[in-house]
Amino acid sequence: MPAVEGKVAILTGASSGIGEGIAKELVAAGMIVAGLARRLERVENLAKSLAGKKGKLIAVKCDVTSVDDVKRSFNWVEKNLGPPTVVINNAGVVKHHLISSGDIDEIKTIYDTNVMGVTVCSQLAIKSMYRNNIEGTIININSVAGHSILPFPTIASYSGSKHAVTAITEHLRNEAYHLGAKIRITSLSPGAVESEMTAGAKEEMGVSFDEDILPASDIADCVLFILRAPQRLNISEMQVQYVNECTYSFAEKAVGRTTKEFIDGIKAATKKQ
Ligand SMILES: NC(=O)c1ccc[n+]([C@@H]2O[C@H](COP(=O)([O-])OP(=O)(O)OC[C@H]3O[C@@H](n4cnc5c(N)ncnc54)[C@H](OP(=O)(O)O)[C@@H]3O)[C@@H](O)[C@H]2O)c1
Repeated sequence: MPAVEGKVAILTGASSGIGEGIAKELVAAGMIVAGLARRLERVENLAKSLAGKKGKLIAVKCDVTSVDDVKRSFNWVEKNLGPPTVVINNAGVVKHHLISSGDIDEIKTIYDTNVMGVTVCSQLAIKSMYRNNIEGTIININSVAGHSILPFPTIASYSGSKHAVTAITEHLRNEAYHLGAKIRITSLSPGAVESEMTAGAKEEMGVSFDEDILPASDIADCVLFILRAPQRLNISEMQVQYVNECTYSFAEKAVGRTTKEFIDGIKAATKKQ
């Protein structure tokens, strides 16, 4: 079982939800965690609340849609904390619209964050681990929406971005093989998890997952499980959902959502130039 204690991790999106949950558990396990996010003060406050734990959280301001920001952050971590053994690409956004009529800037934000952010961070992670001859682990926080088309029309671009994460993760594993790098690469795909994202989704889609939604700490447990597995063991894909979350439960939640009013709204929006 590889030791995580004292190892450096870079975690994007550490300021809320799943990222906050992962930061807490990695620090409790003794890791030195660079928590990247735009809302620096939130990560700083979280770091303060974790003082006295075995590990440490260091807040780093970073917008993953900015290549310069990501490069600066990775360089800072390598110089000040040491090269990362673990990189967790967790930062992500959802915006609700249809591809045929949605705001193009919003669609671009989704792909810039969820696809380009993951791509740039993954490249820098692989380069750093390869250069430093580190047997590392990269975990891409994907989604069940990255594996099938869920019956919620307004997550179309989000779903597209997460399907890209599925492909990117698989390609990275092929590339690590060609490099002969002992880097484990995992796609961790949760269903509904308590966070700002699902709170927003409830408002946007009128769909509630409240009754049985997973806490972020469950996803953090999965991350520790992946990291603590023997280094020879690459968990290529881990999908996790609450008990009874399934194709039918999603379909039942979606029934009645595509009302006449909704269809008329999208027809009108699609006619607009
Ligand atoms: N909640 C779910 O049900 C669920 C299910 C499956 C997968 N996921 C995935 O889990 C990940 C975390 O989402 P969450 O549910 O925890 O949502 P959340 O509470 O909204 O957290 C999103 C995190 O991403 C960060 N982020 C967003 N844009 C960023 C940018 N441009 N640069 C840097 N950081 C950015 C946010 O930090 P700042 O705003 O401070 O920058 C925040 O820390 C996402 O990849 C999401 O797709 C969530």
